[in-house]
Formats: sequence, C-alpha cells, structure tokens
Amino acid sequence: MQLESISVEGRSREEVYEALLAQIEYLFEQETDRTAVLANIVAILKTTPLPFFWLGFYSVQEDQLVLGPFQGVPAVFRIDFGKGVCGTAWKESKTLIVPDVEKFPGHIPCSCYSRSEIAVPVRRDGAVVAILNADSEFFDSYKSDAKYLEIITDMIGNHWI
Ligand code: SME
Repeated sequence: MQLESISVEGRSREEVYEALLAQIEYLFEQETDRTAVLANIVAILKTTPLPFFWLGFYSVQEDQLVLGPFQGVPAVFRIDFGKGVCGTAWKESKTLIVPDVEKFPGHIPCSCYSRSEIAVPVRRDGAVVAILNADSEFFDSYKSDAKYLEIITDMIGNHWI
C-alpha cells in the first residue's frame, strides 16, 4: 500500500478533500478490520495541513462513547450520552460545529490549546455507531469541512460490520 502525503499548497481545501476521499475508499478495499482502517483514516487526515490538532474516533459502546483510533494528545476515555460536544452530536444524531469551545456549555476539553471543534456522527442503518471528532488550535476552523467529513463518515458507516 502506498499512500501519498497531501499538501494543500496550490490546492483548495475542496481539492485536498477530493484526493483524501479516493485514498480512504482505497483503504476499504485493502482491509476489513475496523480498527485498522479507522487508524489509517486518521493517519491520512493528519498528513494534510488541514487544521487537525486532535483527530480521532469515539465508538458507541452501550450508553457511552469509548475512545478509538486517534492522533494527538491523550484524550478522555469515555463520554456519556448527551455530554460534551461528542455526546451531544450522538444524542442529536447530527454534525456539531463549535467555532469557540468555551461557548459550548459542557464542552469536555482535550487540551487547553483547543479553540474550535467538530463532531460528525457515523451511522449504520440510521443509528449512530461512532463519532469522528476533530479539534483545532484556532477559532472557527471547520465551517467548510462538514460536508467532506460527512462523506467520510458515510463511507465508514457503509463499511461498518
Ligand atoms: N471535546 C470533546 C471531548 C473529546 S476531546 O476533544 C478529544 C467533547 O466535548 O465531547
């Protein structure tokens, strides 16, 4: 498997994501183990200059989200349903874009450097099975990322076993 490292230099964010989507689809052709594929999805996203200070997955296990493959600083292991940005995205089954984490009541900090955040549900047969979570050191980093991250979470949900 050979995966190119993506640079946004000279390319729009849209072009970067288009290249990422092709690489992620390729991962699903190579491997069926969920943890292995999610780990490489995180690694590929992290190779870009996109603003991912922290990036990873939480999977639904009974009534909690449990930390999965990620890159960044150590993070909280478990998040309750409806708690924090991730637990709220799970409860509401929708993408949450948080331009300023200090203005989100109940935000669970992973780092004092985190300024903005996005949480995107992965759904299987309509039910949320995981959350893709990203943090940025900058305010309002994710206003144009949701539609691409949702394509990625749809791809993951379609391959979820
Ligand atoms: N900030 C998240 C918790 C996870 S860390 O950011 C990695 C939240 O409020 O749910």
